[in-house]
Amino acid sequence: MSKDALKKAAGDKAAEYVKDGMVVGLGTGSTAFHVVNAIGKRIKEEGLQIQAIPTSIATRDQAEGLGIPLLTIDEVTHVDLAIDGVDEIDPNFFAIKGGGGALYREKVIASMAKEVIWIMDDSKPVEKIGAFPLPVEVAQYGYVQLQRKLEAMGCKPVLRVKDDGSTFVTDNGNYILDLHLGAGFDAIGLQDKLAGMVGVLEHGLFLNMCDRIIVGRDESTAEVIENATKGVSK
Ligand code: 5RP
Repeated sequence: MSKDALKKAAGDKAAEYVKDGMVVGLGTGSTAFHVVNAIGKRIKEEGLQIQAIPTSIATRDQAEGLGIPLLTIDEVTHVDLAIDGVDEIDPNFFAIKGGGGALYREKVIASMAKEVIWIMDDSKPVEKIGAFPLPVEVAQYGYVQLQRKLEAMGCKPVLRVKDDGSTFVTDNGNYILDLHLGAGFDAIGLQDKLAGMVGVLEHGLFLNMCDRIIVGRDESTAEVIENATKGVSK
């Protein structure tokens, strides 16, 4: 079973939660790609009436191509439902996101949303987060100073580069430092430290921000797991 088939199963299931009249946050990445397609299909085939707010330029372009009516971030007054992918998530719904570099816009939309769904293949749920490097979006100006500080904190920051060796630049014009923390780091403690660091725009720790996760189990089965403790810090 390919990972992509599991991602599609989760994306197709999540699209069922979209209802007429909703403002929907559209996530970014290879799993979110499938839910955006599924929503586009429902608009075409069922006449589903929604407006959407994309979390990246790539998702905006995909949604535009599918004829999904879009709002800009300044036009949005509320978000009913945000659906997005995730890089790792533990049993407390503590997650790392931002593998695709869209973490800032993803967090803006998720924090506005009344309801949040994260979709994934079955490799994303883990016992402890941290094996996946934690993305931190930083201003270009002074990023080396931040890198030194994070190095001194033992966070092993690595400036993200593209396949061609050039520096990765986010949709917001910033850099990403990926922190190689290792599974089992203190997520709440690190979140507090990052929040106080000058030059950090946002980080990819999304701690207990979702209402449910949907995990692709095979090409036609996706398991829905509800989170009864959203917002509670453990
Ligand atoms: C992008 C993200 C993605 O949702 C996350 O990286 C998961 O990506 P994929 O669905 O391609 O595995 O946070 O910034």
